[in-house]
Amino acid sequence: MEKRQKLPGHVGIIMDGNGRWAQERGLSRSLGHKAGSENLKSLCTHIFDLGIPILSVFAFSTENFKRDAAEVQYLMQLFVKMFEKEFTFLKEKDVRVLFSGRRENLPKEVLRVMDRLVEETANGSNGIFHICLNYGGQTEILDLCRKISEKVEAKEISSKDIDFSLVRANLYQDLPDLDLVIRTSGEQRISNFMLYQSAYAEYYFPKVYFPDFDAEQFDLAIEEFQKRTRKFGGTK
Ligand code: IPE
Ligand code: IPE
Ligand code: MG
Repeated sequence: MEKRQKLPGHVGIIMDGNGRWAQERGLSRSLGHKAGSENLKSLCTHIFDLGIPILSVFAFSTENFKRDAAEVQYLMQLFVKMFEKEFTFLKEKDVRVLFSGRRENLPKEVLRVMDRLVEETANGSNGIFHICLNYGGQTEILDLCRKISEKVEAKEISSKDIDFSLVRANLYQDLPDLDLVIRTSGEQRISNFMLYQSAYAEYYFPKVYFPDFDAEQFDLAIEEFQKRTRKFGGTK
C-alpha cells in the first residue's frame, strides 16, 4: 500500500460472515463470532497504527435480536469479555471508544462494561474507535427526529433552527461522514449501517469472511479507495 497517498479519515466495517466462516469449518456459529472478535483486535491495532483517525464497526444490529436466543446470549457474553478485558489495550494506544445504538434490550452487564470502557478511554487522543451495538441506521434517524421535536415542543428551539449542524449534533455520535465502508463476506448491501453518515462513502465488498479479513486484506481496501475518484456531486 502506498502510505503517502491519502488515507480515509473515517472507515466503517460491516463485520459480516462469522457464521459462514464457522460453518465451512464444521464449527458452531459461536466459534465464528469468537474468531471474528480475535480478528477485530489485531485489525484495530493495524488500522490505528496506519494513522487512520476514526474506525466505526458494526458489531450488532437492532435486527440481530431476531436470531436464536442462544446465539444472542453468546454474543452478549462475548461483548462483555471484549469490553472488559480484550479492548483494554486501547487505553495504552490512547484511542477513545464511543458507542452508538439503543441502550434498551441490552443486558445490564453489557451496559456496565460499555460505560466503563467509554469512561476509561475518554481522554484518548490518538483515534476514535466507534462501535455500533444494538444499532440501526433507521432507528438512529427516528431517535433524532424525536430528540429534535422534543426541543421544538419545549420551545428550546424553533423549526427554523433545524439545520445540518443541529441534525449532526443529534445523531448518536457527532462524527465526520464515512469515507470508506467495507462489508466483508461478499454480501453487497449495507443492512442499516450508518445511513446518514455514508451519503458519499466509497463502498468496498471483499469476498472474505470477517475472521479472514486481516491487515493485508485491509491494505487492499485502502489501495482500492486510493484509486477512486470522489466528486461529491461536482465535476473533476
Ligand atoms: C456477522 O456475522 C456478525 C453479526 C451479525 C453479529 P454473521 O453472524 O452475520 O455471519 P453470517 O452472515 O451468518 O455468515
Ligand atoms: C449486518 O450483518 C450486521 C452486522 C454485521 C453486525 P447481518 O448478517 O445481520 O445482515 P443481513 O441480515 O445479512 O442483511
Ligand atoms: Mg451476516
